[in-house]
Amino acid sequence: MLDKTDLHARLEAPVMKDYGVYLAVDRLLDCQKPLATLATPDELQFQIVHQVEELWMKLAAFTLGEIDGLLAEGQIMRALTLFGRVHMLLRMMTEQLALIETMSPYDYQAIRLQLGNGSGQESPGFQLLLTLPAPLWDRYRALYLEPTGRTLADVYDTGYVHDTAYMVAEALIEFDELFQKFRAHHIYLVHRSIGMGSKAISGRAVELLDAGARHRFFPELWAVRAAMTDRWGAEYGVKRPSIRHGDAGHGSGI
Ligand code: HEM
Repeated sequence: MLDKTDLHARLEAPVMKDYGVYLAVDRLLDCQKPLATLATPDELQFQIVHQVEELWMKLAAFTLGEIDGLLAEGQIMRALTLFGRVHMLLRMMTEQLALIETMSPYDYQAIRLQLGNGSGQESPGFQLLLTLPAPLWDRYRALYLEPTGRTLADVYDTGYVHDTAYMVAEALIEFDELFQKFRAHHIYLVHRSIGMGSKAISGRAVELLDAGARHRFFPELWAVRAAMTDRWGAEYGVKRPSIRHGDAGHGSGI
């Protein structure tokens, strides 16, 4: 049988060898409420998931800063590798939201009383991340569009050669898509834990979260695909000839 008092004491006083000292494990494990004061045992996972997400957002924001510098230096391959790291971070952030769904709605109500007026909307990492795509888009335009007068239609369609201008644009839209997937999963989490119809801390969770989910960082990159579909479509009209033998005029709409 486990002696829970002893377990908690050991959790709160880690043995600090060089590994622990280098990683500041004592300070890290001190960032959660003392175990004796948890509103419910689930509060520890609630705090840790949010803290881990803040750490991932710190790393993502820092890495976007590195990427901007590498793009400026012309180190595109390294920038693309780091984009891959940021994308992986966003995927993990999204996946890790599911941990909170192991908590019952009842237990969450007890935790919610502890939050004061705090809301995820105030997340420092999230607010910082929201400010970074705009300067990255300026960098992209300054590198690939403005000096030559090239357009996104050239990069994606009329002058398509799958070059670095295309690869960096795809890395940007991947960021946009993954960020929105995080928001979409978070909306399901809210549905499942407190319900979207309820009055949230800010009083307007549904509007706020839905508006966020519709946002796009790089609208031009989304628009170029629709413009391509229209341009190519103009060559065959709205409906394409059927590819089924002996059948005319029923496009699939794909
Ligand atoms: C039981 C779990 C959770 C509930 C019930 C919840 C609830 C909410 C609600 C209602 C909002 C809208 C703002 C407001 O009215 O307060 C919000 C926003 C937000 N939450 Fe959560 N949340 C949960 C977990 C998380 C987690 C684990 C994260 C991880 C980072 C997170 C990050 C955010 C962010 C970034 C926003 C702003 C979203 C945007 O502006 O699009 N939330 N949350």
